[in-house]
Amino acid sequence: MNLLGSRTIETERLILRSSKMEEQKRLWEILMIPKVNKWYLVGAKKHANNPKHWTWKNQEKFYKVKVDKADNNDIFVWSVFLKPKYTNSGYEEVIGQVSAQENKEDITIRDVGWYIDPIYQGKGFATEAAKAMLAYMFKEVKINGIFSGAVKDNIGSCRIFEKLGFSKIAEVEEDSPYTFYDGVVTFSKYELTREDYCNNENSRI
Ligand SMILES: CC(C)(COP(=O)(O)OP(=O)(O)OC[C@H]1O[C@@H](n2cnc3c(N)ncnc32)[C@H](O)[C@@H]1OP(=O)(O)O)[C@@H](O)C(=O)NCCC(=O)NCCS
Repeated sequence: MNLLGSRTIETERLILRSSKMEEQKRLWEILMIPKVNKWYLVGAKKHANNPKHWTWKNQEKFYKVKVDKADNNDIFVWSVFLKPKYTNSGYEEVIGQVSAQENKEDITIRDVGWYIDPIYQGKGFATEAAKAMLAYMFKEVKINGIFSGAVKDNIGSCRIFEKLGFSKIAEVEEDSPYTFYDGVVTFSKYELTREDYCNNENSRI
């Protein structure tokens, strides 16, 4: 495996870049939208009902810690920017984030994640960003596989796994890890091995 870090990746409509402080406030705003965080944001459950905790004034310090590490060679997290010609404003805009985080002790097996601003959902941007990230992780970083999952009811996310050639390997009920959702959730677990990636045209660019 080559620890190359979050190098810039360009696709037809998007540019994926390592996290910088400039776009973090907008990403925080996007993450604070309930339909974005419901099946995405984990941890800090004890603060779920404390609005003060979630203000930018309080959150900024956590984003600074993230940005300080963003260019380390073992960090694989990208801010997703939409090129000016595809935005509503006519200027480049940050529209979400994709990541390929460590999952197990074996760092060559990754866990992927994504979120997109609701204003820009349903236009194929998550698929485009994820596909580009997979190409980078398998071809350049040379990971051995991805083991990940989504809540079964998260149709959009499950659809991305399926479109990219992942195999559904299990459905399991677990206590919700999500900050703003308590109870039991059914997870669809997905896997994409290096071999599957190389053999499946749908996963590849
Ligand atoms: C999941 C998410 C990233 C998808 O982003 P997106 O840019 O809208 O995704 P795409 O446009 O690439 O769509 C992917 C596929 O899912 C389908 N899809 C997306 N949202 C859907 C929905 N709510 N219901 C049904 N299908 C949906 C799309 O139609 C597309 O399939 P198709 O090509 O066969 O038509 C976005 O909904 C999101 O940010 N959700 C909140 C955060 C989250 O849940 N992250 C994942 C945690 S595992």
